[in-house]
Amino acid sequence: MSHHFKDYRPLLERSLDHAAAYLESLGERPVDKETTSQQLRELIGGALPSGASEPEKVIDDMVNALDAGLIASGGPRFFGYAIGGTFPASLAADWLVSAWDQNVPYYVSSPAMAVAEETAAEWMVELLGLTEGAAVGFTSGAQEAIYTSLITARNSLLEKADWDVATKGLYGAPRINVVVSDQIHSTIKRALSMIGLGVDCICKVPTDKNLRLIPSELNRVLSDCNGPTLVCAQAGCIDSGAFDPFDEIADAVAAHENAWLHVDGAIGLWAAASDSQKHLLKGIERADSIDTDGHKWFNMPYDCGMVIVKDPAKITTAMGGSNMGDYLNDAMEKPDRNAINFGIAASRRARGLPVYAAFKSLGKEGIVAHLDNCVALAKRMADKLAQVEGITILNDVVSNRFSAQFGIGDDEYRNELTARVVHRLQQEGFLYPSTSGYKGLKTMLFSVLNYHTSEEDIDQSADKIIDAYNIERALM
Ligand SMILES: Cc1ncc(COP(=O)(O)O)c(C=O)c1O
Repeated sequence: MSHHFKDYRPLLERSLDHAAAYLESLGERPVDKETTSQQLRELIGGALPSGASEPEKVIDDMVNALDAGLIASGGPRFFGYAIGGTFPASLAADWLVSAWDQNVPYYVSSPAMAVAEETAAEWMVELLGLTEGAAVGFTSGAQEAIYTSLITARNSLLEKADWDVATKGLYGAPRINVVVSDQIHSTIKRALSMIGLGVDCICKVPTDKNLRLIPSELNRVLSDCNGPTLVCAQAGCIDSGAFDPFDEIADAVAAHENAWLHVDGAIGLWAAASDSQKHLLKGIERADSIDTDGHKWFNMPYDCGMVIVKDPAKITTAMGGSNMGDYLNDAMEKPDRNAINFGIAASRRARGLPVYAAFKSLGKEGIVAHLDNCVALAKRMADKLAQVEGITILNDVVSNRFSAQFGIGDDEYRNELTARVVHRLQQEGFLYPSTSGYKGLKTMLFSVLNYHTSEEDIDQSADKIIDAYNIERALM
């Protein structure tokens, strides 16, 4: 037999050299590069190739062409949005996921991956202090985890209202009230539109100055909600890192005859692992469903998210994996973990394996040290900036992020100056914060999620931010 499996080795070795060179440059590399899309099209695009090319040359050319358009978002000074780096063992595991190319929705299609994901799922529930036996599905990110959670919530709420949505659809179904914090992330609204509930049904609950849901306001809104009701809270607000008061929210939900509590933990759920942070999430284990991201604070390579449902039967029924056709009946009858019961994808890569590798390589202590370090670094930066006259930190810094404004003057002046400071910093390339909004104000959003960020990165970045503020202030 003449197989060509040895052809992979030189290619992978070459890719290893490129990957290692890139990773080793992350500490110094400018975070952003001023390359235009037209320049990138000239480097990357062109005519559809009519014939084959040497794979080694393809890899080399590709690396050369793409380099000018890579953002060093895995580097230690990328502080925008909510983007983490990668734990070393998880990146290595992710490469093996691609090399092994296992399809993981069924135990029979990859027993090894089924058990590795099952183990990672159990360790995660234990680490976060959630309900033992809760179902965990590995998704492409928080958006898919939210989508999966809200479908499960919708089906369960309607089932309790004597409506089988899986067979009857939504035509004529009882109306579901949707109650969310006024800071809920856009991906919740996106999921509501996609699952047939729409966004017109949303009742918004006001938040306090830290963007944390006000429980008395929730009680007021809920007292007007009759029938099935979905409540969405969040663990880690994008702009302030605030955690909603879960115990009080869960009490309000429990008092309702038919309500489901979903928590969007994309940004902050991992804080539940840390003894010094977990008080912020008191009561989170009472949520019916939770979404989180692996690829943000947990530093997995993209794409990696998780959906957690307290009652496994609810997600298994909603995902409907038991009716996949005769050719899959034997697979579904196996008593072991069939991941299709915990998510939407009918075929997917083993994205739980990098999570397993993170638990094995860092252990609980290493994970908690990373989580605590990010919070300490975010506070360090906020403290440094707060000492400068004219820089205002808008929220109490309780987690890995904060929002700041620059300048002394009216809203219009401060909004413009803030945008100019952030854009200057992005262009300079030493660090990368992003702009955002905070109760109508334009802000600098500063987020620390990367395992590699050090005190030195923070101190040098603080100096650059203060310089940029002084330069733009003088120019305005
Ligand atoms: C609070 C919150 N929820 C959900 C999401 C969506 O996460 P993902 O981009 O992984 O789908 C984000 C993304 O930033 C977020 O900040």
